[in-house]
Amino acid sequence: MLFDSHAHINNESFSEEERQALIQKIEASKLDYVMDIGFNLESSAMAAKHARELPWCYAAVGCHPHDTKDMDEMQLLMLKGLAKKDKVQAIGEIGLDFHYDYSERDVQRYWFREQIKLANELKMPIVIHSREADQEVMDILKEEGAFSQERKGWFPARYDGSGDARVLLHCFSGSRELGEQYVKLGATISVAGPVTYKNNRKTVSVVEALPIEVLLVETDSPYLTPEPFRGKRNIPPYVEYTAKKVAEIKEMELEMVVEKTCENAKRFFDIKE
Ligand code: NI
Repeated sequence: MLFDSHAHINNESFSEEERQALIQKIEASKLDYVMDIGFNLESSAMAAKHARELPWCYAAVGCHPHDTKDMDEMQLLMLKGLAKKDKVQAIGEIGLDFHYDYSERDVQRYWFREQIKLANELKMPIVIHSREADQEVMDILKEEGAFSQERKGWFPARYDGSGDARVLLHCFSGSRELGEQYVKLGATISVAGPVTYKNNRKTVSVVEALPIEVLLVETDSPYLTPEPFRGKRNIPPYVEYTAKKVAEIKEMELEMVVEKTCENAKRFFDIKE
């Protein structure tokens, strides 16, 4: 049971034909589930549509920090409407990106907070994008109650009895210490293609340090293609190569990593089928 916990089938760079070809490729692959992740209103609506039409697809809706420059109150209301639709399982991806700074930092902060509030109001999991803003992302999550006891009370406890805040750090690129800190707070960590890149000791040590029960795997396709396909456009079935790398690092059977990460993702996103 292979689960790509973060992909963008809704990416605007696909023509409609390319998207249909991609969907066929996914259906012919070993993949069992894909989360299609929104990054603005339009892509969120498309993710919800894919979730409605495709049995293996589920959606998250939200506004990525890059796109917050175009956000307004009306769009937030429309995201809320989408969030209530069938098979829309999370708010995301939301967060801060101080690497590209495509939106002004204050604008990013404002909409990050508003969307955490939305996730709290709807009692939904949160998918986080954090780039060169580690400390501030954590501070804002804490300030907005993303790790509060109240929030943890909405979800079943984790394997070790600790509270699950249902906050996912997507494509985690932080240090081992930061990863451990997040897990202690009740977060879940997702690793993407970069863990397969040569010299990426940092993410390898995160995977080494954290129990498999708090790890998910993802592609973030069409970006971040794992080895051995680096340089090509990424597709969800390639999540298997990230799972292989996790298996190698943790000295586990690939099948076991595939099963566990799928089980973790289904629990995180509350997917019953
Ligand atoms: Ni993404």
